[in-house]
Amino acid sequence: MPSLSLDQLHASLSDPLLGSIGFLNEVMGRYPDAISFAPGAPHPSLSSDVDIASYTERFIAHLVHDRGLTETRARRTLFEYGPSRGLINDLVAEALRRDHGMDVHSDSVVITVGAQEAMLLSLRALCAGPQDVLAVVDPCFAGISGAARLLGLPVIGIDESPSGVDLDALRQKCRAARHRGQRIRACYVAPDFSNPGGSRMPLENRRGLLELAEREDFYVLEDNAYGFTAPIAAEIPQLKALDDGQRVVHIGTFAKVCFPGARVGYVVADQQVQAAGGQRLLAHHLAALKSMVTVNTSPLGQAVIGGMLLEHGGSLAELSRRKADLYRRNLTHLAHALDRELGAMHPHIHRNRPEGGFFIRVRIPARADMNLLETSAAKYGVLWTPMSQFHLGEAGDSEMRLSCSYLTPEEIDEGVRRLTRFLKSEVLRPHR
Ligand SMILES: Cc1ncc(COP(=O)(O)O)c(C=O)c1O
Repeated sequence: MPSLSLDQLHASLSDPLLGSIGFLNEVMGRYPDAISFAPGAPHPSLSSDVDIASYTERFIAHLVHDRGLTETRARRTLFEYGPSRGLINDLVAEALRRDHGMDVHSDSVVITVGAQEAMLLSLRALCAGPQDVLAVVDPCFAGISGAARLLGLPVIGIDESPSGVDLDALRQKCRAARHRGQRIRACYVAPDFSNPGGSRMPLENRRGLLELAEREDFYVLEDNAYGFTAPIAAEIPQLKALDDGQRVVHIGTFAKVCFPGARVGYVVADQQVQAAGGQRLLAHHLAALKSMVTVNTSPLGQAVIGGMLLEHGGSLAELSRRKADLYRRNLTHLAHALDRELGAMHPHIHRNRPEGGFFIRVRIPARADMNLLETSAAKYGVLWTPMSQFHLGEAGDSEMRLSCSYLTPEEIDEGVRRLTRFLKSEVLRPHR
């Protein structure tokens, strides 16, 4: 039998980043009874009462009553290929206008197979050649650095600061790239509670980032996956809502506010692209790229998400209210449990204090690697994610990421007790 050699396949396949997510899933599969602080996925019980059929019917009624389709045509929409740009663009644009004050027209929106596809398409479109570099806040969501690797794009990290991205460091990296004959073409940020860092950009940093993007001529990829978990009455405007210079490509997902299995996300790309034949929106070009990647986002998935939005008055805030309450409660619960159980345990165990999002980072006096994770799972029945997975370089090797989203408060309590036993026995014992 002929065999393939990995070194003759695309370099991204040899990248440990691509293997790490599979490894975590594999560990979870091997220890089904372990309490898992690993996934940033919603708790399964949150989807158990989602009535897919009734949301689909709600969307069909919308197609008939608001868009003037016949009943037959509306039903057929769900079973056919659809436009690459999507079916629920108007609903998403209206929700972003209403809830986030973004001046978005539905033509600027492309409905994607999750935020992941939106990242891939945006990078593919913006980065034209080997001189174009993606800047990311380091540590960062593996989905963006992974997408860049798939496309063979160079990625540089900007150390994460408590206020998100360090603007001075970013400015210096822009200049250094120029000296090397490269350009930072895009900078990926998650301004509201980054995954995994948990940072949040204050308003002045958001404005500063937009000014820098204008001055240094790069685009900002804004990922808003966790913005809905912001403390009540403490929202800060999204970058896209502040974007007078059209520097921001805004990426969103319904994975956390609805459910990830729908695989529905979106990208707002309202930049005008000039060409010989006239100008078109960047969204138009992203849709053209999409037609060669996933063709279109499943109309069934879009119908369910569209129905859910309609059922909540077309408002993202209404749609996410219950989940936002739950995740805020879980994050506080996890923080208190850690302080209770670990607080006075060891001077070298520290945690960060995010105000939202799904994740808390814990620094331990040992290498928090896959071997330690294996011990934690096998002997103590508790899972977490090594932070090193999210760093571009060697950093993060003694930190773990704990997610609060996949567990009930009772499971969080038990998980933290197990984690404490594990740390006491395996990490803090002098023989290690
Ligand atoms: C920062 C960030 N962006 C986006 C997503 C969701 O991506 P998708 O819509 O492809 O599931 C996640 C999920 O973990 C995330 O952490």
